Parts: sequence; structure tokens; C-alpha cells
Amino acid sequence: MSQDQLKQAVAQAAVKEILPRLDKHAVIGVGTGSTANFFIDALAAYKDDFAGAVASSEATAERLKNHGIEVFDLNNVAGLEFYIDGADETNPHLELIKGGGAALTREKIVAAVAKTFICIADDSKKVDFLGNFPLPVEVIPMARSHVARQIVRLGGDPVYRTGVVTDNGNVILDIHNMQITDPRGLEEQLNAIVGVVCNGLFAARPADVLLLGTKDGVQRIV
Ligand code: A5P
Repeated sequence: MSQDQLKQAVAQAAVKEILPRLDKHAVIGVGTGSTANFFIDALAAYKDDFAGAVASSEATAERLKNHGIEVFDLNNVAGLEFYIDGADETNPHLELIKGGGAALTREKIVAAVAKTFICIADDSKKVDFLGNFPLPVEVIPMARSHVARQIVRLGGDPVYRTGVVTDNGNVILDIHNMQITDPRGLEEQLNAIVGVVCNGLFAARPADVLLLGTKDGVQRIV
């Protein structure tokens, strides 16, 4: 099976998992990236069975709207039963690195609101220790050099993602060469640097369920 077929399989598994718990008033949180896109495409067939979605990026909002799925402002919904999104890496504790698509801040906000975070990923994303994938950090533009110096003090190699501006008008530093043994501690340390908006570690709020696409089928890991 190709990587795209594995992503499609987990996207369909996520739709199957949430459908029995949807009603006409339900609003779903939807993530960003190629796996989330397969999820949106699979969800579209059931768009009359729920109220709509909150999007974690402008790109996702556009894709949802193109399918005729209503997009809500997070401030106008009472709550979210589910958040469904991909990941760049997941460890056995379902702690994640996200933000390869630069949408980490809104993704973390929507994940924080949702009762259940279902992560969908192909098995290339599963690792023992996070950090092989460069860890994205969203930064206020004027603080870029300051934040980069602080990241070096923490032992990482920050690389400015040139040409990328987030949906929030900020920039991204990707931290290379850091094997992350304490994801929750590092998440807190990075958040404490002045000028950091958000970092791509999802450890304080990991996924609740991982649907992992493998050549032998979709594994459900909790
Ligand atoms: C977007 O900012 C990311 O967090 C994505 O969820 C992550 O990069 C996974 O993307 P793919 O599904 O395209 O691999």
C-alpha cells in the first residue's frame, strides 16, 4: 500500500469512529495537512448528519467549504466532541510533534477545546522518541533572533523556515537535532520563552486515540 492509501484508510476509519456519535447539532474540529484532507473528503458524504466544523487553518476552512460543510468560528460554538488531525511524529504515549504545515497554534487551540482528539497517521509517523522530525515553533517576527538564541541554550539547532508566514502573521523556527526525552518539560520550557506563540509538541494535551495506518490494516491505539 502507498503512503496515501494508508492515509486514506485512517481517514475512513476516523469517519467510521465518529459517525455513531454525531447528531444535527454536532460541530467537529478538523486539522490540517494531507491526512486531514483525506478525512475531510471522506466526511463530506455525511455532511447532512452534523452541523459543521471548526477549522485549524485557512486551507482547511476552504476545503471544508468547498465540500459544502459549514465552518464555524470557535468562539461561537458551545464545545467540540472531536478533533481529528494528522501528526508529524507520535511516540507510544500518543505525544505528538505537529506543525509541519505551520498550523500548530490553531491546531493546539482546537485540540484543547475538543473532548476527544483522534490522531490519524500512517505508520511512518510512529517513533520511540520524538525529535527526528524538526520541532516547529511559531514566533512573533520581531522576536525571531531572541527565540533562536534561547533554543540554542536549550540544546537545539533552530532553522528559520524562510518564506513561511502563519495564518496568524507569525514566523516558524524549526528545531533540528534534538532528541526529546521529556516532551512535556520541553513544551513548557519553549512556551516560557518570550516571543514564542506556540510550539509543536502536543504533550500536555496528547491525542486520546491514534488510528495508525499499517500494511496489515488500521490499528486503534489508546
Ligand atoms: C500541520 O501543521 C501539521 O500539524 C500536520 O498535522 C502534520 O504536518 C501532518 O501532515 P500530513 O498529514 O500531511 O502528514
